[in-house]
Formats: sequence, C-alpha cells, structure tokens
Amino acid sequence: MTRATFHASGAGSAFDAPTVIRIKRDGGVLSDEAIDWVIDAYTHGRIADEQMSALLMAIFLRGMTGPEIARWTSAMVASGERFDFTDLRRDGRPLALVDKHSTGGVGDKITIPLVPVVMACGGAVPQAAGRGLGHTGGTLDKLESIPGFSAELTQAQIRRQLEEIGGAIFAAGELAPADRKMYALRDVTATVDSLPLIASSVMSKKIAEGTRALVLDTKVGSGAFLKTEAEARELARTMIDLGTAHGLVTRALLTDMHRPLGAAVGNAVEVAESVEVLAGGGPSDVVELTLALAAEMLDAAGIDGEDPADTLRDGSAMDAYRALINAQGGDPDASLPRGAHTETVTAPRSGTMGDLDAMAVGMAVWRLGAGRSAPGEQVQHGAGLRIHRRPGDPVAAGEPLFTLYTDTPERFEAAIAELDGGFSVGDTAPDRRPLIIDRVV
Ligand code: URA
Repeated sequence: MTRATFHASGAGSAFDAPTVIRIKRDGGVLSDEAIDWVIDAYTHGRIADEQMSALLMAIFLRGMTGPEIARWTSAMVASGERFDFTDLRRDGRPLALVDKHSTGGVGDKITIPLVPVVMACGGAVPQAAGRGLGHTGGTLDKLESIPGFSAELTQAQIRRQLEEIGGAIFAAGELAPADRKMYALRDVTATVDSLPLIASSVMSKKIAEGTRALVLDTKVGSGAFLKTEAEARELARTMIDLGTAHGLVTRALLTDMHRPLGAAVGNAVEVAESVEVLAGGGPSDVVELTLALAAEMLDAAGIDGEDPADTLRDGSAMDAYRALINAQGGDPDASLPRGAHTETVTAPRSGTMGDLDAMAVGMAVWRLGAGRSAPGEQVQHGAGLRIHRRPGDPVAAGEPLFTLYTDTPERFEAAIAELDGGFSVGDTAPDRRPLIIDRVV
C-alpha cells in the first residue's frame, strides 16, 4: 500500500481544505486525489480539527459513494503501519488469525469473554480495540478499569502474545492514525452515526491490525448508531466488501441493540459481568452472543472440531482470560473500581417490566461519567449502571430496578432524566426479540 503523496496544503498545493469541504457540503463526489490529500494532511496536522469537523459533518449530511468509501478507507489504512503476522508459528503451524469488531452498542462487553473463548479454541486474536464513542462504551475504557492493565502494546509484544497465548487487545496506536484522530473528533462533534464514517473507521483498523479473518457484529436498534435493519444490512455489506477487497475473509451477524446487552452497563461493571460469563454463568444474552460470534470466528478461521461452549464449562476460557490480562500487566484478581456514590431507581408500581431502551440506558451511563464529552477526557472507570429487572420480569412496587454508580453525584439528576421514558412497568410482557437477526456473508 503506498502512502498518499500530497504534502503541501493551502497556497501551492493542488488542494485546500475549504474547497474540499465545499464540494462535499454541496453534495459533490470527492476525487481519489482529494481523499488521499485530506487523509494525509489531517493525519500530519496540516488540516485543523475545525476544518475536519466541518468535512465530517458534510459527509454525515451528504454521504459518500461506494468508490469514495473504498478510497477513504484505503487512505486511512495507508496513514500508518499495517501489521503482518503471517510469519508467526505455534507448534510449527501458522496462526489462525481471526478477530471480531462491533459497530457499537450499549452493554456490549462481548469482546472481553469472546477473545479468551476463541484463544482457548486455538484461534489467534490480534484485536485493535477502541475507546467509548458517543453513548456506547469502548473495550479499552472497560479493560483499563482492571488495575495495571495496559493496552499500549508494542508490535513486538503483540507478536509475542500471539505466539505464546494466542491473543492481544491493544490501542490502535500507529495503525490507521487517521482513524484515531477522526474517532476522537467524531465522538465530540455528533458525527458518529454515519455509514461511510463507521465503515471506514472499523475497517481501516481491522485491515491494518493484521487479522486474516473478521466477523462483524453489526448492531440494529435504538442503541446502535444505525437504527434500522436496512441501514445495518447496508453497513454490513459495505464492510464485508471492504474487507474482501483487502484480502480478509469477512462476514457479519446482524444483532439486536434495541435493548442493552446483559445487566451491567459502564466500564468496570461490564468487566465484572464478563468474568461471570467466563466462570460459566452470566446473563443468557451475553452468553448466547459470545458463543454465536465465537462459532463464526472459528468457521471464518478454518478451525474445526471445537465447541466454544466447552471452554466456558471446562475453565479453559477463564485460563486464557487470566493469561491475557496478566500478559498486559493487569491483575485479574484485583478488585474493580466502583463509583463512590450510588442511587437507586425503584419501580413506580407492581406489574411486569416492559421494554428497556438501549439508547436511554447508554445516555444515562454516559451522563454518569463512563464516556467523554470533550476530546481526551478521562472516563470514570467506576461509573455505570446495574439492571435488576429485565423485560418481562415480574416487578413489585418500590423494588429496585436500576442501581447507578458515579464518583460525581451531581450527575445523578441528568442520568435519571435520561432513563425516564426508557423503561416502563405495565401489565403485559413486551414482545420477544431474536438477539441474532441474520447472518451476512
Ligand atoms: N467502531 C469503530 O471502530 N468505529 C466506529 O465508527 C463505530 C464503531
């Protein structure tokens, strides 16, 4: 992959930011050269954040053609290194390199149990993971709530972990640095929920990280960035085509995100729930999705004869998790942080718990301090929420429905206001929804 070669900006360059912004603002199509120039110039600090914000908003509003998305993604990959782990061996054999990526959800801690399950089945997972984005949590923010854990790995360390234990979860660092900058900017400029920007963000990291096979967990529903099944299907198709064009075996599941996953949403609370799953327990939806994605990953990587469920029963996934956390400096036995202040939301009446809106829950947790509202802000690792009654459960008036945690109690009012209207207690159970909606290949 060649690097973009347009280094000048403003006077003397073939391009300048206001012209490129104007083309997209007015609904035009960006040329390959303009895309290469924008990504290179932004990566190297020759386009200001306010100019990139305007361009991202123009893309958000006007969209991109398929060829624009493909070129934008390739330029993002070319903005940094591309790892290659095909020379690595375990027991004399090439590694079965495979990863998954989610398009973002609420309570979506699946990576934390899933990576160890796949490691225990013989896969090798080089996962470049992200931080929280908008109302959704990020794997790195969650894992960094484990005392000592570091996601800042060198390539040498990733290689060693892949050979020795079969997995590494790391900050993208110099992989697709254009995405690192744009991801942080999108998070605070309301430009996250755009198909071209999600597809290029996800796929630039995944192409650069050196996996050979990839399963995309494409979320559908109120807590997803793209709400409808039609949009999610288009996103899945776009990402599969990008992956295939770059030589990755790529496929997707469409999965429900109208409701949060599991009963814990936040940073440390989600690690704790993941450990319950690894110990053979945990909420049934988290277990179901972990096992479905693991089966897809093993199939995509060509690993036969392994049942991922066995690894939760026999403790081998827990062993892999402990090895992974230890390898990255974390203490898997350390107690996890919890917000110093708690608040409980109780049932207004007796009845049956109605639907639970993933967006309302995600926003409540963001208000508690689990996410960011300014670039580079520290998240609260102990901020989060526990759900005590799931849709369809019987409820008695006055009993706790949610416990909220934060270190900054002045946040409770806004968080509870977000939850308001996001749940109900009524006389009938809500409709059942399939968690796994479809498989796209
Ligand atoms: N995950 C990403 O890496 N990027 C997005 O834009 C959304 C989810």
